Amino acid sequence: MPELDLDLVREQFPAFSDPDLEGWAFFENAGGSYPCRQVIARLLGFYGAVKVQPHHPYPLAQRAGEAMDAGPASLAPWLGADLDEFHVGPSTTQNTYVLANAFRSILSSGDAVVVTEQDHEANSGAWRRLADAGIEVREWKVDPDRGSLDVADLEGFLSDGRVKVVAFPHVSNVVGQVNRVRDWCGRIKAAGAVSVVDGVAAAPHGLPDFAGLEADVYLFSTYKTFGPHQGVMLVRRELAERLPNQGHFFNESMLAKRLVPAGPDHAQVAALAGIAEYLQLLDLHHFGDDGTPARERMVRLGGLWHAHEATLLAPLLEYLRERDDVRILGPDAPDERASTVAVVGPRPAPELATALAEHQVMAAGSHFYAYRLLAAMGVDPEHGALRMSFVHNTTRAEIDQLIDALDAVL
Ligand SMILES: Cc1ncc(COP(=O)(O)O)c(C=O)c1O
Repeated sequence: MPELDLDLVREQFPAFSDPDLEGWAFFENAGGSYPCRQVIARLLGFYGAVKVQPHHPYPLAQRAGEAMDAGPASLAPWLGADLDEFHVGPSTTQNTYVLANAFRSILSSGDAVVVTEQDHEANSGAWRRLADAGIEVREWKVDPDRGSLDVADLEGFLSDGRVKVVAFPHVSNVVGQVNRVRDWCGRIKAAGAVSVVDGVAAAPHGLPDFAGLEADVYLFSTYKTFGPHQGVMLVRRELAERLPNQGHFFNESMLAKRLVPAGPDHAQVAALAGIAEYLQLLDLHHFGDDGTPARERMVRLGGLWHAHEATLLAPLLEYLRERDDVRILGPDAPDERASTVAVVGPRPAPELATALAEHQVMAAGSHFYAYRLLAAMGVDPEHGALRMSFVHNTTRAEIDQLIDALDAVL
C-alpha cells in the first residue's frame, strides 16, 4: 500500500494555506471538517453561473439541473448505493426527525423501537418521541466505564419479535468506538426489524459501504466529509416505498422527494460532486487509473486514510494514557477507535478548550449532543469532555503541537 501523500492532500484544502490560520492546528473535525477546494469551486460555480430554479426548459435552468443532478449521481457509487437510495436533506437531525415521523404512522401500540445511550441526540430523540404515540421505547444502555454497547442486550431486545426499528451509531462521536454494523444489521434484519445507522462520526474516516453494511438506513452529514452542509440519508428502496410520503402529495411518486420535504439547497446538492472529485483525484494519484469501480477505490483510499490516522492516534493516546489527571472516554488503544478522542479533565472542558486556543489549537469542550452518553458514564454533561478529532489531512507536527499544548494547559 502506498503512503498517503499529505502534501497533495493538504493542497486540496484552502484553509491550510490561509494566512489567517497559519500556525493553527485544527482538531474539531468531528464538529465539521474543512471543505476541500473542489466543493468550494462547485458551490461558487453554482451561485456565480447557474443559480436559478433547475430543470426548466431554458438553457440556464437546464445547466443548473445538470449541475445539481451530478451531486448525488457522482457520490452514490463511492458509497455502494444506488441513486434511488440517495436522499439529501438539510442535516442528519432533520433527516432522522422526518424518518421517525414516517414510522409514526406505520407503527402501532405493541410495537417497540430500540435506541441507545451511545448516540448523538439526532438518532435518539426523534425515536424516543414515538413514546407519545404509544410505541414502547427500549433503551440499549452502555457500559458505564467503557461507553460500549453489548450485542447480548440487542439480542435480548429482539427476542420477543416486537421491535420494529433499531437506531444505533456506526461510531460514537465521543467514545469513538467502532461498532460492528454489519453483524448487528444482520441480527436486526433476521428479527424482522429495520436498522437505522448514524454514520456521521464514521464517514469522515472513509465513506461507508451501504450495500455491504446491510443497513436499511444509513445517515451522514457531508459538512464533516469535506463537503457542503447537507445530510445524506441512504434508504433501501423497498423501505422508502413502504414508508408514507412525507413530501408534497403530488410528488408522492418521486422517491427522492418522499422523505426529505424541505426544498433542497440546489448549490449544496451540486457541490456534493466536489467530494467525489476530491476522492477521484486522491485515488488516481495513489493508485493510478486502473478502471477499478468507485466503491472499491473508496475501500483502498479509506485504507490509506486509516493507516495515516492510526499512526497519529498512537502517540496521542499514549500521551493521554500516561496522564493520571484525565479520563479517556472509550477505548484507549488506537485499533479500537476512530481518531476522535474525548477526555474528561480536571477543569470544565470549555475552559480547557479556551486555554488550548491560546496555543493555537482548535478543539472544543462540550457534551457534543451525546448528553445521555456522558451522563451514563458518570460525567456531568455541563463539565463536558474535551474532544480532539482529526482526519487524514492532519500532520504529525500538528499532533505534537496538540500534545505540547495539552502539557501546558492541563
Ligand atoms: C454522531 C453525530 N450524529 C448526528 C449529528 C447531527 O448531524 P447534523 O448536524 O447534520 O444534524 C452529529 C453532529 O455533530 C454527530 O456528530
